[in-house]
Amino acid sequence: MENKKYIIKTYGCQMNEHDSERMSYMLHNLNYIETDKYDDADLIIYNTCIIRENAELKVYGHVGAMKALKEKNPNLIIAVCGCMMQIDEAREVIRDKFKHVDIVFGTKNLSSLPYLLNQYLTYNERVIDVEDVDDIDELQKAIRKDKHSAYINIIYGCDNFCSYCIVPYTRGRESSRSESSILKEITQLGEEGYKEITLLGQNVNSYGKDLHPCTNFSSLLTNISKIDSIERIRFMTSHPKDLSDELIEIMKKTDKICKHIHLPLQSGSTRILKEMNRKYTAEQYLEKIVKLREAIPDIAITTDLIIGFPGETEEDFNATMDMIEKVRFDQAFMFKYSRRIGTTAAKMKNQVDKDITSERFQKLLDRVNDICYEKNSEYLNTVQKVLVEGTSKNDTSTLTGRTDTNRIVHFKGQESYIGEIVNVKITDYNSFALEGELIE
Ligand code: 5AD
Ligand code: SF4
Repeated sequence: MENKKYIIKTYGCQMNEHDSERMSYMLHNLNYIETDKYDDADLIIYNTCIIRENAELKVYGHVGAMKALKEKNPNLIIAVCGCMMQIDEAREVIRDKFKHVDIVFGTKNLSSLPYLLNQYLTYNERVIDVEDVDDIDELQKAIRKDKHSAYINIIYGCDNFCSYCIVPYTRGRESSRSESSILKEITQLGEEGYKEITLLGQNVNSYGKDLHPCTNFSSLLTNISKIDSIERIRFMTSHPKDLSDELIEIMKKTDKICKHIHLPLQSGSTRILKEMNRKYTAEQYLEKIVKLREAIPDIAITTDLIIGFPGETEEDFNATMDMIEKVRFDQAFMFKYSRRIGTTAAKMKNQVDKDITSERFQKLLDRVNDICYEKNSEYLNTVQKVLVEGTSKNDTSTLTGRTDTNRIVHFKGQESYIGEIVNVKITDYNSFALEGELIE
């Protein structure tokens, strides 16, 4: 029998990317194979994100464009899943205005995909089901895009309720996977040849608090570091309020833990941080940075920043500009505030004018890029250990990989180095990447 073909289009964060890898595994078990040609596909799945309005609008645009394809090929199955489908209003838009969508499911019944597909094929009626049925401890089989570095879920959901954020409503309350299930999965990945793992969670520092007996993230890291075959451990995301001295100590003494932390600041103004319900002040954030750098001098610190949060004044914005001078982030992801219905901030009266937000955004972006450039210059003539991830898109004689500190490095070399950790001498740089020469 000829294989059926599928496409999964993924929006949003690494959690979603990994959910798509898990769906790929389920589909391969049903004899589906992946294609990149929409005309050729029997099944197209949109794994959606709703964190900002532009992510949501993109999905409506892309799914809407599939109407014509479905008319041409009525056997084509279109499914929409992911975070957007956890929000009633967005699900209703898909239900009522996108009648060509056949299957809808959510973030908490991902493993029902084979069953929902079968149900649709049997009754030929659209299926909408977002019921919470997944067992988070199951061995999470996945067909991973990368063969050397793997994403592992360790904690789902978020209890923080930052006032701008919709995630607590899409991914639910914090729920940790059992340590034994995580260690089993990582051990197996090590046996398959994976060298690097990235532990995923909206708030990894909360890991284990909800387990019985309770445990914590530092203890999980210590146990993972004992798995011999794994050479590099990464994790994201950490909430500054939960970054403990114990974690800093474990990072310092465990070579396998990469010298990189993603620590979203969001704003440099203590007043705005309070409105955001972040539960730390700008000073407390700085104290954590000082501690991290004292313990691990060459650690890379990256962050997320929101510009134009309701009520942000010029003074508040200047406090953010000030903080980036004080911290000198290695990389910062910047977002214009996006009003998400259902969140506390959406109800705030003093929304910032779009033009002012854009102006501030550009100013911040320019300065952040300058600092990244200056920070990258510090790598010149150093020798870095690089995990080779693949070849450059346009030139197969150029390899790309990452340093321990998560810098992208391009250098000449043979494809046989892919998956290896090699020494590279850094010879050039820009704001976003390093260039170097392989040292054999
Ligand atoms: N508007 C803009 N940015 C947001 N983020 C989360 N919610 C919003 C929002 N409503 C950003 C935060 C978070 C990152 C993943 O997305 O900076 O850390
Ligand atoms: Fe990821 Fe949040 Fe977007 Fe969901 S809403 S895909 S958890 S960023």
